[in-house]
Amino acid sequence: MPDLGWLSDPTVFAVNRLDAHSDHVCYRTAAEAAAGRTSLRQSLDGPWQFAWSPNPAARPADFWREDAALTGFGTIRVPGHIETQGYGQLQYTNTLYPWDGRAELRPPRVDLDHDPVGSYVTFFDLDEGLRGQRVCVSFQGVEQAMYLWCNGHFVGYAEDSFTPSDFDLTPYVRERGNRLCVEVYKRSSAAWIEDQDFFRFSGIFRPVYLYAKPAVHLEDLWLRAGLAEDNATGTLAPRIRLSGRTAGAAVRCRVEDPEGFALFDAPVEEGDVIELAGVQPWSHETPVLYHVTLTLTDASGAVQEVVPYDVGFRRFEMKNGVMCLNGRRVVFHGVNRHEWNPETGRAIDAGDMRAAMAVLRKNNINAVRTCHYPDQSLWYDLCDRNGIYMIDETNLESHGSWQKLGAVEPSWNVPGSLPEWKDCVVDRARSMFERDKNHTAILIWSCGNESYAGEDILAMSRFFHEQDPGRLVHYEGVFHNRAFDEISDMESRMYAKPWEIRGYLESHPQKPFILCEYLHDMGNSLGGMESYVRLEEEFDQYQGGFLWDYMDQALWHTDALGRRVLGYGGDFGDRNTDYNFSGNGIVYADGAEKPALQEVRYWYSDPAARAAQDRENARRAAAEDARLAAAWQARRPGLLAVTRGDGNLGVRGDGFEILFSVSEGGPSSLQIDGIEWLWRAPRPAFWRASTDNDRGCGFPVRSAAWMGADAFPRYLGMEVLQKDADGVTVRYRFGVDAVPGAAAELTYTVEPRGALRVEARYHGTAGAPELPAFGVRFQTFAPVAETLWTGLSGETYPDRYRGGVFGCHSETPHVEPALVPQDCGMHLQTRQVTLKQRAVCGRTAAALTLVQTDSPFAFSALPNTAQEIEAAAHISELPVTGRTSVTVLGAVRGVGGIDSWGTDVEDAYHLSGETDHRVSFRILLR
Ligand code: GAL
Repeated sequence: MPDLGWLSDPTVFAVNRLDAHSDHVCYRTAAEAAAGRTSLRQSLDGPWQFAWSPNPAARPADFWREDAALTGFGTIRVPGHIETQGYGQLQYTNTLYPWDGRAELRPPRVDLDHDPVGSYVTFFDLDEGLRGQRVCVSFQGVEQAMYLWCNGHFVGYAEDSFTPSDFDLTPYVRERGNRLCVEVYKRSSAAWIEDQDFFRFSGIFRPVYLYAKPAVHLEDLWLRAGLAEDNATGTLAPRIRLSGRTAGAAVRCRVEDPEGFALFDAPVEEGDVIELAGVQPWSHETPVLYHVTLTLTDASGAVQEVVPYDVGFRRFEMKNGVMCLNGRRVVFHGVNRHEWNPETGRAIDAGDMRAAMAVLRKNNINAVRTCHYPDQSLWYDLCDRNGIYMIDETNLESHGSWQKLGAVEPSWNVPGSLPEWKDCVVDRARSMFERDKNHTAILIWSCGNESYAGEDILAMSRFFHEQDPGRLVHYEGVFHNRAFDEISDMESRMYAKPWEIRGYLESHPQKPFILCEYLHDMGNSLGGMESYVRLEEEFDQYQGGFLWDYMDQALWHTDALGRRVLGYGGDFGDRNTDYNFSGNGIVYADGAEKPALQEVRYWYSDPAARAAQDRENARRAAAEDARLAAAWQARRPGLLAVTRGDGNLGVRGDGFEILFSVSEGGPSSLQIDGIEWLWRAPRPAFWRASTDNDRGCGFPVRSAAWMGADAFPRYLGMEVLQKDADGVTVRYRFGVDAVPGAAAELTYTVEPRGALRVEARYHGTAGAPELPAFGVRFQTFAPVAETLWTGLSGETYPDRYRGGVFGCHSETPHVEPALVPQDCGMHLQTRQVTLKQRAVCGRTAAALTLVQTDSPFAFSALPNTAQEIEAAAHISELPVTGRTSVTVLGAVRGVGGIDSWGTDVEDAYHLSGETDHRVSFRILLR
């Protein structure tokens, strides 16, 4: 009889759950297999009856009875989370357990007063193809503990949210009028080991289906595909487990190459090794799959099941401390990927997976880590087909049990070496291994994430090693407990700094090195990728890394003012929370690519492709410099007329007029062909809005004076330096009260050739805090509809520009939709930029062009000022001003990327406040 005590007993994690098995699909006939539609499966996805209760005492305890009325039940979508469908509380928290500060608990206890329960009911008739046979049900993913009843009978219990739980329904099921009831608990002892840094959901969030087992059934299959040392002979050593009337049953195996040509077609038995000559090895570059079909016949020779499976032939091994694929060193250009969709959370579908795969392929990503749990099976198929190397990670993380606010404190760590947790965690390893073992793409099994280390995780590692000599085992957590180094075949670190990694590699280590997580792409980040790629060129034992991570995790939600925003931790009233710390993707939560992705594409391409891009960029830049120089020389001088007023010095020329205002501290008007361009006079730019990485390392705290200086410079006065045939030069000087001794000036020269030359100078002073940027900023009188620039593509910063392609590019001024707005839209090495205003009909109404003088500049054109961006907690909170903030910089700080919690940008990308900086450019007046 089901027992609520199981919820807090780590030794009870499965009751009557069927043995884990491979993810193959059984078809009844060859024709079904060819069509890809099996009559042996019946989906139970769709709307189910549902009741939510805040705790077990409040739940409809008898709802599983055949005659129980479902009074008060609503409906819920399966698969889906409970919390994304209007029940319970959404919560995002990183390491702290969700109940921290609300319940004083130690493992394995569960607070049964606060353990929401979802009671699910569905009714079904058996499809034709399932009738008269053994019938099982498969729950592909239920978070976090489930009890199951069928037609009033208790069937079983299971934990482990991210691997399938199958149960035999044969004794209870009938052809028509079945009632399946599931009670889902949000918390169980498993909550202690599912403390991943993510939204804490519950519910039946992956597909559910029934499947029939014909008279004989292929329960489990392991093709064990290999590749001989010659890289041309493929081997298959199938291991097959049958159930039912197995006496006299036989399995025939057919292997076809990608063109459909049969290489092998004969009966197979346990122990057979099939050798296939002349196969093409599987790799990222050549993800060639061979089509295997197993046909299962009963004693009379009648076909009972047909099982297709595509496999690649490859050999993965450790050679002299280096991981090798098909004999060659492999380097992982990887990314971590959580399953995510901004509407449905971790309940994702095929479309989500295909979109992710397209991004990986397009950006030269060759590897993925399934952080921090096994994914849905389709993802593994896609990785097989697309040649994406996988680290398949067990659903295990107990971060909060050993690391407290950053400090290692493992006194009550689970699973540790506690005997009562061992079976449970080894079972998780087994469930993943058995389901996924046929996938060619998986090169490495991972024991989980951030769970410290002890005998129990060692047992997981030994399990993988014993089962599977053809793959390696990964676990980063031994870094914190070296007594268990044996767990991991490779030295794996997260967010290690390039110089630390160098130290390890230079020590002639036994194990190769990977970064299971690196370059924390929170908001505007990914600076400094080069330092990591250089290590890979220098050291064979540096075998790459996995970016953190694929997608921002945020959920569409309607805020208090009725606006649709991507909500992050805290937006849902969730406390405790880690706010926007789950927004670290190379793509945004809606799948749109972050600008930094061009840098990934560049550094993850091969050295020859990179060199070719560098050469072409240099050639185009030189050609553009020559063109601009010639164009400037070709301009004819015109006449300038100067008008002295009481508060203004006016300068007019062919088609333009500028008013240099005394009181305003700069030109108050710049008109070309009668169109006004300036809202207020330009000011020195001392600030760019802080990024998540800046905040993480305390930069805005240390340099806050510059934010004040940017908003409130002290205007010291105007001087007219020159007024003759060569032009008119006016200088405005500024002081910085918050940084005594620092000063800046903006100098404007109206040149007879029809240009306004602008020069901004910063005079550094000892002790001045670091600057985030220096240059000049102005707001346009009317919004800029489009910018057109010649320089590097996309968004570039000093530590993230190599992926930019030199050319002519355009964009609509916008603030990038980071979860929390931050600086964005920087364009380095710009030669020329044209700001275009649009008339109602869409034609360009006016255009203002800025050109380099002696050297290229950086610019951004944003609909908001640095201060407005700094003040907004969501993109929806940015004011619509109708102006564009144009910033031209001579120097700007890098964005950094090593991590977002303390590490500053690399040395070369700081901007000293103690030295001088300048920028100059021309505004063309005709
Ligand atoms: C790692 C962890 C990830 C994530 C990341 C920070 O320590 O493994 O799950 O929390 O830090 O975003």
